[in-house]
Amino acid sequence: MINEREIATLVARFGVGNQLNGGLLLVDDEPNNLVVLRGFLDDEERWQVHTAASGEEALAIAEKTPLDVVVTDHRMPGMTGVDLLEKLRRLRPDVAGIVLTGYADMDALEAAINRAAAFRFLRKPWEPADILEAIQQASNLVSQRRIIERLVSLLSERGEMLRASFEEVKRQQQALLHLERIGTVGKLASGVTHDLRNMVTSLREAEYQLSQHAASPELRETFTLGLAHVEKILSTLKTLQDFAHAGKLEIARAPADPADVVRDAVTISRMDLHFRLRRLVVDVAPDLPPLQADRLKLSQALVNLIQNAVQATGKDSTVRIAARPADGGVELSVEDDGPGVETELRPRLFQPFASGKGSPGLGMGLYMARLIVESHGGSIRLVDLPGGGARFELRLPS
Ligand SMILES: Nc1ncnc2c1ncn2[C@@H]1O[C@H](COP(=O)(O)OP(=O)(O)OP(=O)(O)O)[C@@H](O)[C@H]1O
Ligand SMILES: [Mg+2]
Repeated sequence: MINEREIATLVARFGVGNQLNGGLLLVDDEPNNLVVLRGFLDDEERWQVHTAASGEEALAIAEKTPLDVVVTDHRMPGMTGVDLLEKLRRLRPDVAGIVLTGYADMDALEAAINRAAAFRFLRKPWEPADILEAIQQASNLVSQRRIIERLVSLLSERGEMLRASFEEVKRQQQALLHLERIGTVGKLASGVTHDLRNMVTSLREAEYQLSQHAASPELRETFTLGLAHVEKILSTLKTLQDFAHAGKLEIARAPADPADVVRDAVTISRMDLHFRLRRLVVDVAPDLPPLQADRLKLSQALVNLIQNAVQATGKDSTVRIAARPADGGVELSVEDDGPGVETELRPRLFQPFASGKGSPGLGMGLYMARLIVESHGGSIRLVDLPGGGARFELRLPS
C-alpha cells in the first residue's frame, strides 16, 4: 500500500485538491442522543452536520447530500445501523460508517465489519473524545480513498491521451513515405524518439501507479501492451537513427552458427502470446556453414519476419522457420499459411513505413530486416506459396 508521503507527492504533481466535503450524518432513533451528539460536533466548524431519526431517513439524505462520514446507532426499529451502512455502501461506497451500540453485541460487530464494512464500532456509553477521534480518522480514510480514486482516474485519462498522441505519431510517420533520403528520416526519427521517450516515461509512471491501486486488470493490460508497443517502436527508431548517422548499420561480426540465430529468434518470439498459439515447425539442416555475422541483429531480422507471420495469421496456423545451405551460404526462411502480402504493398514492401491495412505497426519491420541482411552482404525476398501464404527468405554469404 502506498504511504501518506507518496500520496502527498502525487497529489501535488497531479494537482488533486481536497476531496472532502465536510458532510457528517448522525442517525439515531432517540432524539436526545442526536441532540447530545450534535451539541459538541456543531462546535467543530469543519463539519456540515445532518441528522436522521431512522435508517430510511438517513438513506434519503445520503442520496442528495454530500457526505464524508455517517455515525449511526445500531439498535433502531425498522432498519438497524449495520443494515443502513450495508445499503449506504452500495449507494455511496466512498462514505465511511461508524456504528454505535449499547450492548456487547458480537453478531452486530461481525456484521458491521463484514457486511457493512464499517470503519469503526463504538460501545455506548461513548466519550465525546472517542467519537471525535473516530470521525477524524474516518474522514482521513475517506479523503485518502477519494484521492487515490481521483489519481487512478486521472492516470487512466492520461493513458487515453497518450494513446491518442501515439496514433498521431504513427500517422505522421506514415506520411513520411515520400522521404527518399535516409538522412532526413534519421533526423525526423530523432525528434520522434525524443517525444516517444517522454511518453514512455509517463506511461511507465502511470503503469506503476496502476499496479499500486485497485485498477481493473483490463486497464492495466492495456497499459502494459501500449507500453510494449511504444518501446518496440522506440528500438526500431533507434536502429534507424544509428543507420542514418553512420550511413550504414553497425554490424559486430563474429563467427555465428545459423542454428543459434534461429534459436535466439524463437526464444524472443516466444514472449509473444500469439506466437505461442501458432503451430511452430523449425527445420534447421545439419552441418550448416558458420556465418561471419552479427548474431543479435540477424536474429532481430528473423524476429521481424516471425512477428509478421504471426500478425498475418490466426491461432492454430502454422509458422515454419528453416535454415538450409544455399549458394555456398545459408538461407533462413519464415513461412506462414496466411493470406499472403497485399498486392498494392509489394512494390515498396521493403521500404520504410510500408505497413499494410490494419497493421498495428509502423511498417519498419521488413525494412529493418533488409538493412540488416544487406549489411551482411546478403539479400531478402518474398516468395509466393502455391497454396497461399507468404514466405520470406534471407540469403547470407558464409
Ligand atoms: N507474412 C506476411 N503475410 C501477409 N502480409 C505481410 C506479411 N509480412 C508482412 N506483410 C505486410 O507487409 C507490411 C509491412 O511489414 P513490416 O514488418 O515492414 O511492417 P509492419 O509489420 O506493418 O510494422 P512493424 O514496423 O511493426 O513491423 C505489413 O503491414 C503487412 O501488411
Ligand atoms: Mg512487422
